[in-house]
Amino acid sequence: MQIELRVLRYDPERDQKPHEESYRVEAAPMDRVLDLLHRVKYEQDGTLTFRRSCAHGVCGSDAMLVNGRNRLACKIRVDQLGGRKITVAPLPGLPVMKDLVVDMEAFFEKFRSVQPFLVNEGVAPTRERRQSPKDRERFDDTTKCILCAACTSSCPSFWAQPAYVGPAAIVNAHRFIFDTRDEAADQRLEILADKDGVWRCRTIFNCTDACPRGIHITQAILEVSRAIVEQHA
Ligand code: FES
Repeated sequence: MQIELRVLRYDPERDQKPHEESYRVEAAPMDRVLDLLHRVKYEQDGTLTFRRSCAHGVCGSDAMLVNGRNRLACKIRVDQLGGRKITVAPLPGLPVMKDLVVDMEAFFEKFRSVQPFLVNEGVAPTRERRQSPKDRERFDDTTKCILCAACTSSCPSFWAQPAYVGPAAIVNAHRFIFDTRDEAADQRLEILADKDGVWRCRTIFNCTDACPRGIHITQAILEVSRAIVEQHA
């Protein structure tokens, strides 16, 4: 079938502002939006710019706004979208560098700010640091994050207040705060108790809806909020 692919494009060296361009692409129902973008790039317009790497929903590099919702272009199929017209735009709320490529630096800076790594000053065991399956389960959901930014860039609180640390950083803090092997939970909770931390969340659930990994993000944010309250009780 023929699909009309409408892409919001912007070249800072040529354009005053973003504009939509339309392409007719041959597509099968099981094709992914990433396949269509490749078809345009390889067969119609080599200047079309977007990020992608694994093409299998693992690296998180091709999150974009597809038909008005943040999704991974490599996961969303033509038949899931319905209709013969598909619109594609860069992730909202992040500075556009070119076409579908956004500047992720501020996003990763916030990720780094929550110490997203295991902190343990104790003597390292000769083998692995052991943990019961039950303790591991406590943060299993938040280990799934692939840092695609679909959650943070779908959050109205983030759009209104870009200083907000955002759902993705909180998810990655959660992953270590509730890890029994880690010793820096208190520091992370202090960081997230800031005015631009967890309290900016208005439980709108956009982040949860946008997550391509199905992480219960709003729930994770609430669990971290509760831990902050308990820390100060
Ligand atoms: S290209 Fe890696 S997640 Fe889509």
